[in-house]
Amino acid sequence: MGKASLLLLSLVVPRINLKGYVVGNPVTGSDYDDNFRVPYAHGVGIISDQLYEAAIRNCKGSYIRPTDKMCARVLNTFQNLVSEIDLPQILGVNCIRGMLTHKFLSEEYTQLSDPSPEQPTLDCFAYRYYLCNIWANDDSTREALGVKRGTTGEFIRCKKSIPYASEVPSSIKYHFNLTSRGYRALVFSGDHDLVIPFLSTHAWVRSFNFSVVDDWRAWHLDGQAAGFTITYANYITFATIKGGGHVSIEHRPKECLAMARRWLDNEPL
Ligand SMILES: *[C@@H]1O[C@H](CO)[C@@H](O)[C@H](O)[C@H]1NC(C)=O
Ligand SMILES: *[C@@H]1O[C@H](CO)[C@@H](O)[C@H](O)[C@H]1NC(C)=O
Repeated sequence: MGKASLLLLSLVVPRINLKGYVVGNPVTGSDYDDNFRVPYAHGVGIISDQLYEAAIRNCKGSYIRPTDKMCARVLNTFQNLVSEIDLPQILGVNCIRGMLTHKFLSEEYTQLSDPSPEQPTLDCFAYRYYLCNIWANDDSTREALGVKRGTTGEFIRCKKSIPYASEVPSSIKYHFNLTSRGYRALVFSGDHDLVIPFLSTHAWVRSFNFSVVDDWRAWHLDGQAAGFTITYANYITFATIKGGGHVSIEHRPKECLAMARRWLDNEPL
Protein backbone atom coordinates (compact mmCIF):
# COMPACT_ATOMS: atom_id res chain seq x y z
CA MET A 1 0.00 0.00 0.00
CA GLY A 2 1.27 3.45 -0.92
CA LYS A 3 1.66 6.25 1.49
CA ALA A 4 -1.40 8.04 0.13
CA SER A 5 -3.76 5.11 0.55
CA LEU A 6 -2.42 4.41 4.01
CA LEU A 7 -3.15 7.98 4.92
CA LEU A 8 -6.63 7.67 3.43
CA LEU A 9 -7.22 4.49 5.39
CA SER A 10 -6.22 6.14 8.61
CA LEU A 11 -8.65 8.92 7.82
CA VAL A 12 -11.68 6.77 7.10
CA VAL A 13 -11.24 3.99 9.66
CA PRO A 14 -12.53 5.20 12.99
CA ARG A 15 -9.79 4.99 15.56
CA ILE A 16 -12.09 5.19 18.51
CA ASN A 17 -15.01 2.84 18.86
CA LEU A 18 -17.38 4.91 20.93
CA LYS A 19 -19.60 2.88 23.22
CA GLY A 20 -21.18 5.49 25.41
CA TYR A 21 -20.61 8.58 27.46
CA VAL A 22 -20.84 10.10 30.92
CA VAL A 23 -22.15 13.53 31.85
CA GLY A 24 -22.38 15.08 35.31
CA ASN A 25 -24.71 17.95 36.27
CA PRO A 26 -24.70 18.75 32.56
CA VAL A 27 -25.81 22.09 31.20
CA THR A 28 -28.24 21.46 28.38
CA GLY A 29 -28.91 25.05 27.40
CA SER A 30 -32.61 24.35 27.59
CA ASP A 31 -35.19 25.95 29.85
CA TYR A 32 -35.05 22.85 32.05
CA ASP A 33 -31.81 24.01 33.65
CA ASP A 34 -33.22 27.30 34.93
CA ASN A 35 -36.80 26.36 35.60
CA PHE A 36 -36.05 23.59 38.06
CA ARG A 37 -34.05 25.87 40.35
CA VAL A 38 -37.30 27.16 41.80
CA PRO A 39 -38.78 23.80 42.90
CA TYR A 40 -35.33 22.68 44.01
CA ALA A 41 -34.78 25.80 46.14
CA HIS A 42 -38.21 25.20 47.64
CA GLY A 43 -37.48 21.54 48.34
CA VAL A 44 -34.29 22.29 50.24
CA GLY A 45 -35.80 25.15 52.24
CA ILE A 46 -34.18 28.15 50.57
CA ILE A 47 -37.51 29.72 49.63
CA SER A 48 -40.78 29.61 51.55
CA ASP A 49 -43.93 27.70 50.67
CA GLN A 50 -45.61 31.06 50.20
CA LEU A 51 -43.05 32.28 47.67
CA TYR A 52 -43.14 28.96 45.84
CA GLU A 53 -46.91 29.11 45.62
CA ALA A 54 -46.72 32.71 44.40
CA ALA A 55 -44.19 31.66 41.76
CA ILE A 56 -46.43 28.88 40.51
CA ARG A 57 -49.44 31.16 40.49
CA ASN A 58 -47.82 34.15 38.78
CA CYS A 59 -45.15 32.61 36.57
CA LYS A 60 -47.03 29.51 35.44
CA GLY A 61 -44.03 27.22 35.47
CA SER A 62 -41.71 29.53 33.54
CA TYR A 63 -39.14 31.23 35.72
CA ILE A 64 -36.76 32.57 33.12
CA ARG A 65 -38.24 35.42 31.13
CA PRO A 66 -41.00 36.91 33.26
CA THR A 67 -43.61 38.81 31.26
CA ASP A 68 -45.86 39.35 34.24
CA LYS A 69 -45.05 42.09 36.79
CA MET A 70 -46.06 39.95 39.77
CA CYS A 71 -43.92 37.10 38.45
CA ALA A 72 -40.95 39.44 38.04
CA ARG A 73 -41.37 40.57 41.66
CA VAL A 74 -41.52 36.99 42.90
CA LEU A 75 -38.40 36.10 40.94
CA ASN A 76 -36.62 39.10 42.35
CA THR A 77 -37.31 37.88 45.88
CA PHE A 78 -36.25 34.42 44.78
CA GLN A 79 -32.97 35.81 43.48
CA ASN A 80 -32.26 37.67 46.72
CA LEU A 81 -32.80 34.53 48.80
CA VAL A 82 -30.73 32.37 46.50
CA SER A 83 -27.87 34.88 46.57
CA GLU A 84 -27.31 33.77 50.17
CA ILE A 85 -26.31 30.35 48.91
CA ASP A 86 -23.25 28.95 47.19
CA LEU A 87 -24.94 27.77 44.00
CA PRO A 88 -22.59 24.94 42.98
CA GLN A 89 -22.66 23.38 46.48
CA ILE A 90 -25.54 24.63 48.59
CA LEU A 91 -23.80 23.65 51.84
CA GLY A 92 -20.61 25.46 50.85
CA VAL A 93 -19.24 28.79 51.99
CA ASN A 94 -20.87 31.52 49.92
CA CYS A 95 -17.89 33.68 49.20
CA ILE A 96 -18.78 35.34 45.92
CA ARG A 97 -21.87 37.19 46.94
CA GLY A 98 -20.72 40.45 45.37
CA MET A 99 -20.18 38.85 42.00
CA LEU A 100 -23.61 37.27 41.88
CA THR A 101 -25.96 39.93 43.09
CA HIS A 102 -26.36 41.71 39.78
CA LYS A 103 -26.81 38.65 37.64
CA PHE A 104 -29.82 36.43 37.60
CA LEU A 105 -28.48 33.04 38.59
CA SER A 106 -25.70 33.24 36.07
CA GLU A 107 -22.69 31.00 36.29
CA GLU A 108 -20.41 33.89 37.12
CA TYR A 109 -18.66 31.83 39.74
CA THR A 110 -16.68 30.03 37.06
CA GLN A 111 -14.95 33.29 36.32
CA LEU A 112 -13.13 32.84 39.58
CA SER A 113 -11.00 30.41 37.68
CA ASP A 114 -10.01 33.00 35.11
CA PRO A 115 -7.21 35.20 36.36
CA SER A 116 -8.97 37.77 38.42
CA PRO A 117 -7.99 40.42 40.88
CA GLU A 118 -10.75 39.03 43.08
CA GLN A 119 -8.76 36.39 44.82
CA PRO A 120 -11.06 34.08 46.75
CA THR A 121 -10.40 33.81 50.45
CA LEU A 122 -9.01 30.68 52.04
CA ASP A 123 -12.40 29.41 53.25
CA CYS A 124 -13.87 29.43 49.73
CA PHE A 125 -13.93 26.18 47.85
CA ALA A 126 -12.87 28.22 44.83
CA TYR A 127 -9.56 28.96 46.54
CA ARG A 128 -8.46 25.58 45.18
CA TYR A 129 -9.14 26.77 41.63
CA TYR A 130 -7.12 29.87 42.27
CA LEU A 131 -4.24 27.79 43.63
CA CYS A 132 -4.42 25.35 40.75
CA ASN A 133 -3.77 28.14 38.26
CA ILE A 134 -0.68 29.15 40.18
CA TRP A 135 0.44 25.53 40.54
CA ALA A 136 -0.01 24.66 36.87
CA ASN A 137 1.89 27.74 35.72
CA ASP A 138 4.83 27.18 38.02
CA ASP A 139 8.07 26.25 36.27
CA SER A 140 8.86 23.41 38.68
CA THR A 141 5.39 21.88 38.13
CA ARG A 142 5.85 22.04 34.38
CA GLU A 143 9.28 20.52 34.64
CA ALA A 144 7.99 17.69 36.81
CA LEU A 145 5.19 17.01 34.33
CA GLY A 146 7.63 17.01 31.41
CA VAL A 147 6.11 20.03 29.68
CA LYS A 148 8.62 21.25 27.12
CA ARG A 149 9.55 24.84 27.80
CA GLY A 150 7.94 27.27 25.37
CA THR A 151 5.42 24.76 23.93
CA THR A 152 2.51 25.58 26.21
CA GLY A 153 1.04 28.93 27.08
CA GLU A 154 -0.52 29.99 30.30
CA PHE A 155 -2.74 27.39 31.95
CA ILE A 156 -6.17 28.73 32.83
CA ARG A 157 -8.69 26.48 34.52
CA CYS A 158 -12.03 26.59 32.68
CA LYS A 159 -10.89 29.04 30.04
CA LYS A 160 -13.90 31.16 29.17
CA SER A 161 -12.37 33.33 26.51
CA ILE A 162 -12.26 30.77 23.69
CA PRO A 163 -13.91 32.38 20.67
CA TYR A 164 -16.80 30.30 19.42
CA ALA A 165 -20.37 30.83 18.33
CA SER A 166 -22.95 29.14 20.50
CA GLU A 167 -25.36 27.64 17.98
CA VAL A 168 -26.84 24.66 19.80
CA PRO A 169 -29.74 26.03 21.83
CA SER A 170 -30.30 22.71 23.60
CA SER A 171 -28.30 19.50 23.73
CA ILE A 172 -31.25 17.38 24.80
CA LYS A 173 -32.16 16.13 21.33
CA TYR A 174 -28.55 14.98 20.88
CA HIS A 175 -28.79 12.94 24.07
CA PHE A 176 -31.99 11.45 22.72
CA ASN A 177 -30.37 10.61 19.41
CA LEU A 178 -27.25 9.07 20.93
CA THR A 179 -29.07 6.94 23.48
CA SER A 180 -31.70 5.83 20.94
CA ARG A 181 -28.90 4.61 18.72
CA GLY A 182 -27.38 2.36 21.34
CA TYR A 183 -24.76 4.48 23.07
CA ARG A 184 -24.76 3.77 26.80
CA ALA A 185 -25.11 6.88 28.90
CA LEU A 186 -24.47 7.58 32.55
CA VAL A 187 -26.11 10.83 33.52
CA PHE A 188 -25.21 11.70 37.09
CA SER A 189 -26.02 14.61 39.32
CA GLY A 190 -24.66 15.90 42.61
CA ASP A 191 -27.81 16.45 44.62
CA HIS A 192 -26.53 19.63 46.33
CA ASP A 193 -26.13 21.65 43.14
CA LEU A 194 -28.38 24.63 42.52
CA VAL A 195 -26.73 25.50 39.19
CA ILE A 196 -28.09 22.43 37.41
CA PRO A 197 -30.35 20.75 39.97
CA PHE A 198 -30.81 16.99 39.74
CA LEU A 199 -34.54 17.63 39.22
CA SER A 200 -33.87 19.26 35.88
CA THR A 201 -31.46 16.60 34.69
CA HIS A 202 -33.79 13.77 35.61
CA ALA A 203 -36.70 15.62 33.98
CA TRP A 204 -35.08 15.71 30.55
CA VAL A 205 -33.97 12.10 30.85
CA ARG A 206 -37.57 11.20 31.64
CA SER A 207 -38.83 13.25 28.70
CA PHE A 208 -37.47 10.56 26.37
CA ASN A 209 -40.23 8.23 27.58
CA PHE A 210 -37.93 5.21 27.70
CA SER A 211 -39.31 2.44 29.88
CA VAL A 212 -37.83 1.81 33.32
CA VAL A 213 -35.49 -1.19 33.41
CA ASP A 214 -34.12 -0.88 36.96
CA ASP A 215 -36.40 1.16 39.18
CA TRP A 216 -35.32 4.01 41.48
CA ARG A 217 -33.23 2.65 44.33
CA ALA A 218 -30.22 3.56 46.43
CA TRP A 219 -26.76 2.67 45.20
CA HIS A 220 -24.17 1.94 47.84
CA LEU A 221 -20.58 2.33 48.87
CA ASP A 222 -19.16 0.89 52.10
CA GLY A 223 -22.63 -0.12 53.24
CA GLN A 224 -24.03 3.39 52.89
CA ALA A 225 -26.30 4.94 50.28
CA ALA A 226 -24.00 6.95 48.02
CA GLY A 227 -26.92 8.25 46.01
CA PHE A 228 -29.97 7.05 44.13
CA THR A 229 -30.31 5.64 40.66
CA ILE A 230 -32.74 4.56 37.98
CA THR A 231 -32.00 2.89 34.66
CA TYR A 232 -34.10 3.27 31.54
CA ALA A 233 -34.25 1.30 28.31
CA ASN A 234 -31.51 2.18 25.80
CA TYR A 235 -28.95 1.86 28.58
CA ILE A 236 -29.45 5.27 30.06
CA THR A 237 -28.70 5.39 33.77
CA PHE A 238 -29.49 8.39 35.90
CA ALA A 239 -27.76 8.59 39.27
CA THR A 240 -27.53 11.12 42.05
CA ILE A 241 -24.41 11.61 44.15
CA LYS A 242 -25.54 12.20 47.70
CA GLY A 243 -23.84 15.33 48.98
CA GLY A 244 -22.27 16.13 45.63
CA GLY A 245 -22.31 19.64 44.19
CA HIS A 246 -22.03 20.92 40.64
CA VAL A 247 -18.76 19.03 40.25
CA SER A 248 -19.46 15.96 42.39
CA ILE A 249 -15.95 14.64 42.14
CA GLU A 250 -14.74 17.54 44.28
CA HIS A 251 -16.75 16.59 47.35
CA ARG A 252 -17.42 12.89 46.74
CA PRO A 253 -14.34 11.51 44.95
CA LYS A 254 -14.61 7.99 46.39
CA GLU A 255 -18.25 7.65 45.45
CA CYS A 256 -17.67 9.03 41.95
CA LEU A 257 -14.79 6.65 41.34
CA ALA A 258 -16.90 3.68 42.45
CA MET A 259 -19.76 4.81 40.24
CA ALA A 260 -17.53 5.27 37.19
CA ARG A 261 -15.79 1.95 37.73
CA ARG A 262 -19.03 0.00 37.99
CA TRP A 263 -20.46 1.72 34.94
CA LEU A 264 -17.33 1.09 32.86
CA ASP A 265 -17.39 -2.55 33.96
CA ASN A 266 -20.99 -2.77 32.74
CA GLU A 267 -22.21 -3.54 36.24
CA PRO A 268 -25.26 -2.03 37.88
CA LEU A 269 -24.33 0.81 40.24
C1 LIG B 1 -30.94 12.36 14.92
O1 LIG B 1 -30.76 11.23 14.12
C2 LIG B 1 -31.40 11.29 12.87
C3 LIG B 1 -31.09 9.99 12.12
O2 LIG B 1 -31.31 8.87 12.90
C4 LIG B 1 -30.93 12.50 12.07
O3 LIG B 1 -31.66 12.59 10.90
C5 LIG B 1 -31.11 13.75 12.90
O4 LIG B 1 -30.57 14.86 12.21
C6 LIG B 1 -30.43 13.60 14.22
N1 LIG B 1 -30.69 14.78 15.03
C7 LIG B 1 -29.74 15.35 15.75
C8 LIG B 1 -30.17 16.52 16.57
O5 LIG B 1 -28.59 14.95 15.79
C1 LIG C 1 -43.08 11.64 25.71
O1 LIG C 1 -44.43 11.62 26.06
C2 LIG C 1 -45.05 12.91 26.14
C3 LIG C 1 -46.44 12.74 26.68
O2 LIG C 1 -47.11 11.71 26.00
C4 LIG C 1 -44.97 13.59 24.78
O3 LIG C 1 -45.54 14.88 24.85
C5 LIG C 1 -43.54 13.68 24.32
O4 LIG C 1 -43.44 14.23 23.03
C6 LIG C 1 -42.86 12.32 24.36
N1 LIG C 1 -41.44 12.47 24.10
C7 LIG C 1 -40.78 11.85 23.14
C8 LIG C 1 -39.32 12.11 23.05
O5 LIG C 1 -41.33 11.06 22.38
